[in-house]
Parts: sequence; structure tokens; C-alpha cells
Amino acid sequence: MASLTVRNVDKHFGPVQVLYGVNLNILDGEFVVLVGPSGCGKSTLLRMIAGLEPVAEGEIEIGDRVVNYLPPKERDVAMVFQNYALYPHMTVFKNMGFSLKLQKATKAVIEQTVGRSANILGLTEYFERFPRQLSGGQRQRVAMGRAIVRDPQVFLFDEPLSNLDAKLRVQMRTEIKALHQRLKTTSVYVTHDQVEAMTMADRIVVMNEGRVAQIGAPLELYDRPQNTFVAGFIGSPSINFFEGTTRRSNGHASVELEDGTRLPLPRETPLHEGHRVVYGIRPEHLELGTEADVGAEVTVVEPTGPEVLVFSKIGGVPACAEFKERHQFAPGQEIRLAPRLENVHVFDAASGDRV
Ligand SMILES: Nc1ncnc2c1ncn2[C@@H]1O[C@H](COP(=O)(O)OP(=O)(O)OP(=O)(O)O)[C@@H](O)[C@H]1O
Ligand SMILES: [Mg+2]
Repeated sequence: MASLTVRNVDKHFGPVQVLYGVNLNILDGEFVVLVGPSGCGKSTLLRMIAGLEPVAEGEIEIGDRVVNYLPPKERDVAMVFQNYALYPHMTVFKNMGFSLKLQKATKAVIEQTVGRSANILGLTEYFERFPRQLSGGQRQRVAMGRAIVRDPQVFLFDEPLSNLDAKLRVQMRTEIKALHQRLKTTSVYVTHDQVEAMTMADRIVVMNEGRVAQIGAPLELYDRPQNTFVAGFIGSPSINFFEGTTRRSNGHASVELEDGTRLPLPRETPLHEGHRVVYGIRPEHLELGTEADVGAEVTVVEPTGPEVLVFSKIGGVPACAEFKERHQFAPGQEIRLAPRLENVHVFDAASGDRV
């Protein structure tokens, strides 16, 4: 096991720049998830760590070794890809033991090491099968097994669950987390599924267009997003945004929307009158209010089982509120919503940064 440091890494493909000054300090034993929209550079960064893509600008360090110029097999990392890449003509046992065989390990060592990994992953009964005789989830576990057998310093995962159906995904994500709790190998896990990121990570790195938008513990990102990008990316259903202008009158602070609707701000918000801002409030932080609160016109009501999602318009802007109570509002009905002041997020409208 080892720490992993990415220092001022840029990446160009020809004239096109895809990574900009990426810095990461991943601790020994940490499980870090990289998230971000398609094309933001997650796989590229992972491939640079693995040694599959050259590092021309900046440094990558594993343990206390700079690995920029080391070939993949000398970096002591194991990568699990989205498409598993199992050898189709080899049995499960041979797939799992292949890297050890290359290292000229003895038969006894291979049997013991593969046996131990297969035990952890529940694969022993499939040893004699070929990949084509396995389900997607089982293949995925063999790919994991192949990585575990190598006992690397760092695991790199690139969307390993994206080929699985929804139920199996949830199950495998719990298995991978349990596996990490057991092995405690430093891991970098790429996904664009923010629920996967929230549930698996010690820390999340949110990337946007080749830059790190924020790094933090899952709930830290959820509770204190540093910009509108992170606020909008983390959370499902996503946060509500309203653009407006700050107002202050007789001790009250608010944000005025285009049609004159006012959304309440905490009094201590460090903004004067007339600042252009984006007001953010998560669906579960909108409560049912009284006459004095914000007017909302209901458009759609969606019961999900545990919650009821109420979609409405506030000052003409679409908004979603999430209730534990089973409200049955009708489309077109006027309701009042009260944002919980301690959960209001305010961002500068021009930069998108948290105020
Ligand atoms: N070999 C290459 N040559 C040129 N451009 C590339 C190459 N590989 C990746 N890119 C570009 O770099 C950018 C980042 O790609 P990358 O695969 O890292 O994105 P990603 O975040 O993994 O996306 P996804 O979620 O879709 O997998 C994209 O714009 C992509 O088109
Ligand atoms: Mg990718």
C-alpha cells in the first residue's frame, strides 16, 4: 500500500488540452472517487496514474517514488476496466492466476493466492468456467479477483460497474466497499454516478472540464459545495437554483427574482444590497410554509415510495421539493414553501463560487 500524489498535472492531446493543473494527495489506504461529466478527463487521469498515458507536465508519485517514466508493470498498480478485458480462452482460475504465472510464481503459490482471492469474492465454484459461461456480475468479480491477486500498492477502477444492471450495481458497490474495508489498499475509483461516489468514497474529487472543482468527504461536498457546479452535480434530485439580486430591508435579507418573488436569506449572509447571486436550496430543505412564505404553483407530484417529490414553479423557475409526508397536491394548486435558512447556499452569479 502507498500514498498517491498528483502534482500540477496538465495533459494535451496534440493541440487540445484536457487536464489543467490537477493536484491530488491521496492517503495510504484511502478510497477516493473521481466523478464528473463525460469527457471531463477522469479516464485520462487514471490512465496517466497507471502508466498507460505519458505524463509530460507535472508529477505523479506513488509512495515516495516519482513514477512519470516508469512503465505500467513497474508502478505496482492494478487497474480494473469497464469492459473487464478477461482472456476469453482461459478459465476463471487461469484468468486470475495469469499475472502470477508471468511472474514465474510456483504452482503452489498460484493455487494459494488465487484460492484466497476467490474465497473473498465467492468465485471458487466457478474456477473451471470460461468467461462466456459467467454472468456480467461474475465476470466483474473475476476482473476484481485478477487485480487482487497482484496485491498492488494501488487499485485503479474505471467505471467497473457501468455494464451491470441497476440491482447488481448496488450489490457490487457494497461488495467493493466491503473488500476495501478488508484489504485497505489505496484506491482510485472513477464513475459518473454520483450515488456511487457518495456511498463508496472516503473522499470525492469532482472534476469539470479538466479541472478539479472540489475535493472533500461526501457529506462535506453535499453540505458545503464550493461552487454551482459541485452543488448541481452532487445530490439527486438535484439542488434548486434561482438567480436574483440581494435585497436588505429592516433587518431582513432576501434574494429578489425577476418577477419580484423574494427568497429569504440568513441575516448573516455577508452580502450588501444589489449583488447578483444564485440562490441554492436542496429539495429536502424546502418545507411546507404559511401565507408569509414563498408562493409555488404545483406542476407535477411524484410519489417514489419513501418520499413524495413535488415539482412546482417559484417565480416562474422550476423547483422540486421532497417530503416524507404523503401530500396529495393537485397540478395548478398554489402552495407555500419555506426554505430552511441554515441550508441555503449562495453563489456569486458571475463566478459561480460560494459566497
Ligand atoms: N487519445 C486521445 N486523443 C485525443 N483526445 C483524447 C484522447 N483520449 C481522450 N481524449 C479527449 O480527452 C477528453 C477527456 O477524455 P476522458 O476519456 O478522460 O473523459 P472521461 O471523463 O473519462 O469521460 P467518460 O465519463 O465519458 O468516460 C475528452 O474530450 C476526450 O475526447
Ligand atoms: Mg472515462
